[in-house]
Amino acid sequence: MSGGTLYGEGRSRFARLLEWREERRPDLATLELRRRLLSGLRGRVVEIGCGEGRAFELYPQQVEQVLAVEPDPTARAAASERAADAPVPVEVVEGFAERLPAADAAFDAAVCVWVLCSVPDPASALREVRRVLTPGGELAVYEHVRSPRAPFRALQHALDALFWTRSLGGCRTTRDTEVAIRAAGFEFDWIEHGFCSSSLLTITAAPYILGVARNNGV
Ligand SMILES: C[S@@+](CC[C@H](N)C(=O)[O-])C[C@H]1O[C@@H](n2cnc3c(N)ncnc32)[C@H](O)[C@@H]1O
Repeated sequence: MSGGTLYGEGRSRFARLLEWREERRPDLATLELRRRLLSGLRGRVVEIGCGEGRAFELYPQQVEQVLAVEPDPTARAAASERAADAPVPVEVVEGFAERLPAADAAFDAAVCVWVLCSVPDPASALREVRRVLTPGGELAVYEHVRSPRAPFRALQHALDALFWTRSLGGCRTTRDTEVAIRAAGFEFDWIEHGFCSSSLLTITAAPYILGVARNNGV
């Protein structure tokens, strides 16, 4: 069975929408946040849910190789094209965060950008991330998260239920990803909490965390 059939046309539509939006109006604030996140990486890296591969151009020279895992065939096709122009070697493969196609302790770093909001089971995904990281390996995350403010959180819940999650590839704006990452056994080296949205339409996805957490190896 093809990845497309397994994964669902709704999610492919989401991938096309993201690509179209980015081509029309590149999101420079997000680009800068991604750049900061990735600039300190080195060694072997696994990028989970790489989407269309928009991070590839930002990997620094100290990165030896990237395994980019993406379940959606439409996004994967775009990512494979971008991989060809990346400054470091990038291999794009089919796979899911909850079952990463990689050996134990195979990577020095893992990257999750806007993906833990969409994976159906973030706890298993984070267990998998720990499995494939070396002890002391880094998880670099940039994720939109639930708001700390109750009225805004109520808006996030309402819009998720109304259309957001159904229309945008299973994305949930109300996840407490920082807590999930700590609960999975990571410790943050640094974390920033911010608010960034490129348009009013995506305002409920504006609260974000950016940071690097370490696999404590226990
Ligand atoms: C909002 S997009 C972000 C893509 C990319 N990380 C970026 O920053 O542009 C969310 C991505 O997560 C992927 N995704 C959803 N569920 C997943 C899963 N279970 N395992 C891995 N990736 C998943 C989607 O296919 C999609 O490409």
